[in-house]
Amino acid sequence: MNIKYPMAKPCLNREDEKEVMEVLRSGSLSLGPKTEKFEKLFAWYLGVRYACAVSSGTAGLHLMLLSAGIGADDEIITTPFSFVASANAILYVGAKPVFADIDPHTFNINPAEIEKKITKKTKAILVVHIFGQPADMDPIMKIARKHKIKILEDACESIGATYKGRKAGTFGEAAVFAFYPNKQMTTGEGGMIVTNSKKIYDMCDSLRNQGRGEDMQWLDHKYLGYNYRMDEMSAALGASQLKRLDFFIKERRKITGWYNAFFGNYPDMIQIPETARGNTHTWFVYVISLKNKNISRENVIRTLKKVGINSKPYLPSIHLLGFYKKQFGYKEKDFPVSEKISRQSLALPLYLGLKKKDVSVIGKEVVSVLK
Ligand SMILES: Cc1ncc(COP(=O)(O)O)c(C=O)c1O
Repeated sequence: MNIKYPMAKPCLNREDEKEVMEVLRSGSLSLGPKTEKFEKLFAWYLGVRYACAVSSGTAGLHLMLLSAGIGADDEIITTPFSFVASANAILYVGAKPVFADIDPHTFNINPAEIEKKITKKTKAILVVHIFGQPADMDPIMKIARKHKIKILEDACESIGATYKGRKAGTFGEAAVFAFYPNKQMTTGEGGMIVTNSKKIYDMCDSLRNQGRGEDMQWLDHKYLGYNYRMDEMSAALGASQLKRLDFFIKERRKITGWYNAFFGNYPDMIQIPETARGNTHTWFVYVISLKNKNISRENVIRTLKKVGINSKPYLPSIHLLGFYKKQFGYKEKDFPVSEKISRQSLALPLYLGLKKKDVSVIGKEVVSVLK
């Protein structure tokens, strides 16, 4: 099938090519200066002390949790409305993800639900800033302070987004970003852990590189580590992309503005995404909600595909994924808001290069299918 409008596309240019080619020509493909440069630039962009580049966002979440001392028997409160990796990482370290339902407007974790879930075993809240918009951090931080628990952030989808002027990924003890090619900026595969804690940084630095000791001697393995290193080609691409991140975000805002203006004419059929007051959105994906419960979303997706438009049911609720149901006995109605959003949401193509007329073509097809 000829897909004219994919869901996502990276925006790559000559400068990116030049940077990656430079690495290839240098022959220094791993543990080199490009990774250090990317980390420095990234820490500067975010305004944090340390950044630690890793092979993926998932690897970053795993190391962040380990380095923050999360382990067996700990409970971590998090959202069921996320990409599965955020909850999986909690399981990797032997802890238990405890879900709290979401806010129906922003689709982020609902602070009022968090407090109900706190027990003696609660060690942290893993906040996920979903779709490009920060969670409601003031009440979340207040709860964390009151109960003396940590805040850790999965900011994989929300690079550059702000909450009351402060960037997502700067609220907790540490945070993780991801750079898969559908993200606002890409390194191919890749992720970044950020923190102001030297202890967390040192641990992540060691664990990503087979748990090597402080002086990083090749065969001195102090901890049970992993190979979660970012390679130099990815880091070079990351540093190059980061220079254009503000532009990427500006363009994404323009395109989503066109979508909002178009779908805003069909309020009976379609709920357009909401940005909470005090937030800026950096639009990882553009997600509408289909208001008519009797419409088959699968049918909508299939029909759009026939005319060359990709769309996705973003996101399923994690607690209803097979593995989670089997392991923890979750069932429908456990997290009704998340489930409702999961049933109705539809992500549409979003990438640089989409023109106003493309948005209008996609919009008209969506409306025509819904009619
Ligand atoms: C919220 C969230 N967490 C974690 C990840 C994992 O990132 P990666 O695919 O780089 O492992 C993603 C990736 O899409 C994500 O959206």
